[in-house]
Amino acid sequence: MRSHRIATVVAPGLALLGAASASLIHITSYAGTITTLNLTLPYSTEPATLTNLSATTACGEKPSWLTLVDDVLYCVDEAWGKDNGTLASFKVAPEGTLTLLNKVDTIGGPVSTVVYGDGGKGLAVADYGGAGLNVYSIANPSSLAPVQADVFKLPHKGVNTDRQEAPHPHQAILDPTGAFLVVPDLGSDLVRIFAIDKSTLKYTEVAPLVSAAGSGPRHAVFVKGKAKTFLYVVHELSNTLVGYETTYTADNSLGVKSLAFSQFWSSNTHGDNTTTIPDGTAAAEILLSPDSKFLTISSRFERLLTVPNYDRTNNTLLPSDPLITLAIDADSGALKHVQTRAAGGINPRQFSFNKAGTLAGVGLQADGRAVIIRRDAKTGILGDIIANVAIEGEVNCVIFDEY
Ligand SMILES: *[C@@H]1O[C@H](CO)[C@@H](O)[C@H](O)[C@H]1NC(C)=O
Ligand SMILES: *[C@@H]1O[C@H](CO)[C@@H](O)[C@H](O)[C@H]1NC(C)=O
Ligand SMILES: *[C@@H]1O[C@H](CO)[C@@H](O)[C@H](O)[C@H]1NC(C)=O
Ligand SMILES: *[C@@H]1O[C@H](CO)[C@@H](O)[C@H](O)[C@H]1NC(C)=O
Ligand SMILES: *[C@@H]1O[C@H](CO)[C@@H](O)[C@H](O)[C@H]1NC(C)=O
Repeated sequence: MRSHRIATVVAPGLALLGAASASLIHITSYAGTITTLNLTLPYSTEPATLTNLSATTACGEKPSWLTLVDDVLYCVDEAWGKDNGTLASFKVAPEGTLTLLNKVDTIGGPVSTVVYGDGGKGLAVADYGGAGLNVYSIANPSSLAPVQADVFKLPHKGVNTDRQEAPHPHQAILDPTGAFLVVPDLGSDLVRIFAIDKSTLKYTEVAPLVSAAGSGPRHAVFVKGKAKTFLYVVHELSNTLVGYETTYTADNSLGVKSLAFSQFWSSNTHGDNTTTIPDGTAAAEILLSPDSKFLTISSRFERLLTVPNYDRTNNTLLPSDPLITLAIDADSGALKHVQTRAAGGINPRQFSFNKAGTLAGVGLQADGRAVIIRRDAKTGILGDIIANVAIEGEVNCVIFDEY
């Protein structure tokens, strides 16, 4: 528990109206920084504020992804041009400063991490550039211990010979039972599946989900419906969203369970087949709302929307890509368009929700900016941009720290 980290500010005499609150926000940039800010949310009409608390360059030159476990922040450095990337652990102090605990090598180009295993003692790393998967024990965050690693092979180049010249694992996620690591591999047109031994943290690759040729699966989410389990995959190269019903197969001869997939949904990333997706679009993130009722997707480089200039003295609108929100039918998994909203700028590579689902933090990689957008947790509708911060370099990951 880190309840001391959540500042609750109750103005005298106003307690009955509710309380203002604060949360730390951690943001990575390819300029080589992790910046930690304090987001305060007054309940009155005063503006929200984002106050810079600290910045560190200790993750490495190209930080790309953050995962928070209690008061330990894990950061991967994509380390462009080098054979290996790194995984670093940091202790987050209540006042918002980060202290490096440990740093270890990964396969090249790590871009995503996920916690798994008994007691959350494992951390899996998807390595885009180096075409691999690393897993570590994080039982002692000051002594990160490699458990297993693999570099994948591509039998032949994919349809998109520029982007599919090698396997490119783009994300590591966990299925709802915690028994499988699931890794969309953009280069191989596969969603790779790894059965996990939750106690030893070791994995065994089982039959993958085969995606359409040239589609480039990038990110995915599982959703527990009323009776069924759904997997939704966003494909960067084809800008498509595909939904599968997931079932768990019986033990095979090796004693390893596997996953089976049956496709029930296919559409563009706007959840329909009618919206024209401009050339050059590259879908990126897909996120499930905390109440499991909505999916939100980022579609990069469409440039069709606008937002007011962040310089309020400047009347020129700024171009923006969209965040698309779809409602999930809990029985069938079918999706219904709820909202297409300006993300706040160009290249919303990654975004996250706070625990209550009342805020979204969005990294706008092409603009060197992160924005905080209000969200109606009940309807899934994204509202006003209530705070923003300009950060040097390409901003690529924004997470809330409110434990
Ligand atoms: C935040 O403050 C640190 C110094 O603590 C500074 O190095 C960094 O540039 C600042 N970041 C922003 C976005 O202002
Ligand atoms: C964040 O801001 C709130 C409200 O001003 C304050 O109470 C809290 O101490 C701040 N937290 C940090 C870590 O600076
Ligand atoms: C470092 O990179 C090399 C070359 O890709 C790879 O064989 C090795 O396993 C990597 N190290 C780690 C710790 O993953
Ligand atoms: C979109 O088109 C695909 C391919 O024709 C079809 O399978 C799918 O059902 C359509 N999806 C929607 C939501 O209309
Ligand atoms: C206003 O904003 C636009 C778009 O960012 C920019 O090109 C222009 O230089 C700005 N004008 C001034 C006076 O700052």
